[in-house]
Amino acid sequence: MDKILVVDDEQGICYSFKRVIGRHGYDVITAFSGEEAVEKVSKEHPTLVMMDVTMPKIDGLETLKKLKTLYPNLTIIMMTAYTTSERAITAMKYGAYDYLTKPVDNAQLISLVEKAITAGKMSIPVTFEGTAEEEEGDRIIGKTPVMLEIYKKIGQIAESDVTVLLLGETGTGKELIARAIYHHSKRVNKPFLPVNCAAIPDPLLESELFGHEKGAFTGADNRRIGKFEQCNTGTMFLDEIGDMPLSLQSKLLRVLQDGCFQRLGGNDLIKTDVRIIAATNKNLESLINMGKFRDDLYWRLNVVSINVPPLRERRDDIEDLIQYFIQKFNRELAKNVKGVSLEILKEFKGYHWPGNVRELQSIIQRGMVLCRSRPFGILSSKDCEWLSQIRLSSEGIMDVEKALSDVVNKFLQRGSSEIYKEAIATFERLMVKRALELTNNNQAMAAKLLGISRNTLREKLEKVQNDNLSEK
Ligand SMILES: Nc1ncnc2c1ncn2[C@@H]1O[C@H](COP(=O)(O)OP(=O)(O)OP(=O)(O)O)[C@@H](O)[C@H]1O
Ligand SMILES: [Mg+2]
Repeated sequence: MDKILVVDDEQGICYSFKRVIGRHGYDVITAFSGEEAVEKVSKEHPTLVMMDVTMPKIDGLETLKKLKTLYPNLTIIMMTAYTTSERAITAMKYGAYDYLTKPVDNAQLISLVEKAITAGKMSIPVTFEGTAEEEEGDRIIGKTPVMLEIYKKIGQIAESDVTVLLLGETGTGKELIARAIYHHSKRVNKPFLPVNCAAIPDPLLESELFGHEKGAFTGADNRRIGKFEQCNTGTMFLDEIGDMPLSLQSKLLRVLQDGCFQRLGGNDLIKTDVRIIAATNKNLESLINMGKFRDDLYWRLNVVSINVPPLRERRDDIEDLIQYFIQKFNRELAKNVKGVSLEILKEFKGYHWPGNVRELQSIIQRGMVLCRSRPFGILSSKDCEWLSQIRLSSEGIMDVEKALSDVVNKFLQRGSSEIYKEAIATFERLMVKRALELTNNNQAMAAKLLGISRNTLREKLEKVQNDNLSEK
């Protein structure tokens, strides 16, 4: 469970954060002063710190500076009262991940916490196949010749500041490679900021990357520092670069060429020194042909590119990957699975893996969550029918949209004023029901299977029960 440290001299605020965030499956601890915060970080190693800017004795900004010197990769969100936005900007310059203005909207709070934790995990070291077992962090598994070539290339380019473009199908390990490049670069003690260009809607992405001035658009009540300014001297991972809107591409090109940009609605030219690693699973050349990607940007990004091969082109790595994931989930799920049956291995080696390593990983994970644990078990399709079920259904993964579009049409024909709500509720109810069936009503397992916390699962069950009652 991820641990979050909330720091505020007002104890009431600490407790209300603890209640709200704790409900979403995080372990929340508190500190009421800067000194206590430093002490708690060293003892408890939280994944995320959320800290008030204004505190007596050492204030939040001083504490932030101290924590960032001691733990450059620690993710910290600062909290300010609405009126102290200048201090929020200073906080970003000192390396805060983001800031929140109080009073805080709960939904916004949780979404920022999730985003910050995901981003923070990107700073966990990545090592290669063959490094000592006890080294911490994630590992890149694979010793087929194409993978060895990739390690060599990472070694050659990591230390220079050259822009890198990572190309490859979904789930092939581009993000893992981006992190490995960062960890072997000179900038390893500077920030590493991931930005997913596909996850942020158009108008917000510009402000996220470049910041904005007060009054730049309706709702821009204060100046905001963008990621490019915040990431100065660090490394930015521009994920899903193929989804970046054309209007922003020219602004990005300019930063790449001369390290300059302007905040949205601003006149000052700001200089920044950011190393870019970009990635996409789209075919950029065909996007260029369709007029959706600038070719000058493509050439600028493509100084060094790494093509990450799909899993079906390096089948000899499958066995090692299976063993790696089994060990990983044995630790996480406290199981003692030894391996998979020869029959499964053979099937896995013959399968075409449209979702690549990510798909393999999630099949093993689901198989291990669901297999009736034999103390020294071997996963086989007999005692783990789910494995073969998923494998078969994942062949039809592309059909999910097709199947759902029929359902969507049915809902749209209903003529109720709450179509959207009803559709989402039905889908949720069925997912939860099926997960409980598959796990023999074991809530912990069902939550794992759905990728949600037990608390969230309980909330959903309560909601289903309430809805049933109100229908009766
Ligand atoms: N060679 C590998 N060794 C170990 N784990 C891997 C390897 N490749 C991928 N993974 C794991 O598979 C999952 C997907 O990898 P990753 O997120 O890097 O894919 P991606 O190429 O960025 O995909 P997408 O294009 O969908 O963003 C991650 O959990 C990652 O840790
Ligand atoms: Mg990715």
